[in-house]
Amino acid sequence: MKKLLLVLLLIIVLVAGGVAWFVTRTPASPFDNVAAIQAPSEDLLQHGEYVARLGDCVACHSTPKSAPFAGGLEMGTPLGSIFTTNITPDKETGIGNYTLADFDRAVRQGVARDRHRLYPAMPYPSYVKMSDDDIRALYAYFMNRVEPVKQADKPSDIKWPMNMRWPLALWNAVFTEGGTYQPKTAGDDQWNRGAYLVQGPGHCGSCHTPRAITMAEKALDESSPLYLSGALLDGWYAPSLRGDPNTGLGRWSEGDIYAFLKTGRNGHAVVFGSMADAFNNSTQFMNDDDLKAISHYLKSLPGDPARDGTPWQYDEGTAQNVSLSNREKIPGAQTFVAKCSFCHGVDGRGKQQWIPPLAGSAASLAKENASQINVTLNGSSRVVASGIPDAYRMPPFRQQLSDQQIADVLTFVRSSWGNHGGAVAANDVKALREHTDPASSSPIILQMR
Ligand code: HEC
Ligand code: HEC
Ligand code: HEC
Repeated sequence: MKKLLLVLLLIIVLVAGGVAWFVTRTPASPFDNVAAIQAPSEDLLQHGEYVARLGDCVACHSTPKSAPFAGGLEMGTPLGSIFTTNITPDKETGIGNYTLADFDRAVRQGVARDRHRLYPAMPYPSYVKMSDDDIRALYAYFMNRVEPVKQADKPSDIKWPMNMRWPLALWNAVFTEGGTYQPKTAGDDQWNRGAYLVQGPGHCGSCHTPRAITMAEKALDESSPLYLSGALLDGWYAPSLRGDPNTGLGRWSEGDIYAFLKTGRNGHAVVFGSMADAFNNSTQFMNDDDLKAISHYLKSLPGDPARDGTPWQYDEGTAQNVSLSNREKIPGAQTFVAKCSFCHGVDGRGKQQWIPPLAGSAASLAKENASQINVTLNGSSRVVASGIPDAYRMPPFRQQLSDQQIADVLTFVRSSWGNHGGAVAANDVKALREHTDPASSSPIILQMR
């Protein structure tokens, strides 16, 4: 008996020791023994700035009031709020003492310089795919072109014991896939470049791929049909980017996707919600070849008819619903004609690329209704393409319309013109009214220097 206990004890000590070693070890970086970059070339610095745009570092590591990259943005997690950190090259409060290898470990592996593990709110599960060259250029940019700012990091709200960081090392081991992006022979160069941008620096999946109960993205590349199949995050539903004709990009051409990412609009849709932020600070700065590569890659992802339902077709029948005699009998029709049709059209078709159609839009056909409720309550942030602000914007109706009125008008929208997204309940509107704050919707373009 004693012997058995001893053996058990030994096993426990060994396992605990193994775990302790594992969670405190320093992962290797290919830059571990690389000398500091001396006098980086202008090309390298410009490339680094471009990679920072691809990765949209500024959107998370700044607040509307802070200096660029000084951190402090609050991010909700199921456990409590955490705050982004100061990644300016300030030596005391920022990353001024980070070597290239330290920087690499933070960005690609989620390990800070003092070896504490980062929460995956920092999208290192995607950034791990970034190439060594992009990481080197990014580092040179941060160290040489970003203004150092003294601003201490804010501690997270997460309470003990959930604030212990070492379990994140185990989380990482189970849920992230190591290694930089490896080109696939099945795709041509353009496809591979697109896959690299979408999966790696662009981290599109962090919003568009559904997450498991563990908060890990359910897929990190096209080998799974769940990759980019649509997900709810922070009160916005980021729809499928796969070939689904209703709720995805099935009816979009590569040119349509390109225009949307470059100018923020096309005949099908205009950016809003968190996509407006991704557009304002990231996608519009991507060069034409990269945007074409992304469009090409996305068009290669097949849809799922079982999830997507009967393909949408415009239905003229609704014309009668908005006629004077019928309008009052249909809840929502009256509000639509009074408050929405001026812009979106009584036929729901919008106005070319300026005002998006509600007829046949992904948000009108998806079961998840959060995006439509959220944008009707809170409006959309300003869309600024090549420095030119939009002429029309979705106004907030938070003050003007009750929960029931918003539920009715969106139920009308989602069941008109062939739409079949399903009704909206007043309770859904109430919940989002309480959990969203129009004042917190982030502003326009954050300057990087
Ligand atoms: C979606 C939001 C988001 C984006 C985009 C993002 N980060 Fe982060 N980052 C975070 C959060 C949140 C933390 C802090 C995590 C924690 O405290 O565990 C963080 C931490 C870091 C750290 C560790 C800093 C320290 O103080 O030790 C570095 C370095 C970093 N990020 C660099 C970058 C770079 C470079 C990019 C762009 C390629 C980037 N981040 C993009 C959210 C983001
Ligand atoms: C911060 C979250 C977030 C990130 C990151 C993000 N998106 Fe989105 N995206 C959304 C949301 C929310 C919507 C729905 C609102 C809209 O249509 O503008 C959306 C919509 C879209 C649409 C329009 C879909 C439709 O059917 O109307 C496209 C195309 C798109 N995103 C592409 C991308 C690509 C490509 C990337 C990566 C480079 C990306 N997104 C990164 C949140 C995000
Ligand atoms: C002043 C013009 C204007 C009015 C009035 C207006 N909208 Fe919009 N709406 C827009 C614009 C422009 C967008 C695209 C996002 C942006 O650029 O702000 C939009 C986007 C939307 C979207 C997201 C797109 C989608 O496919 O789902 C919904 C939903 C929407 N509006 C519903 C409504 C409803 C409901 C009303 C009336 C209560 C309304 N809008 C009134 C201009 C308007």
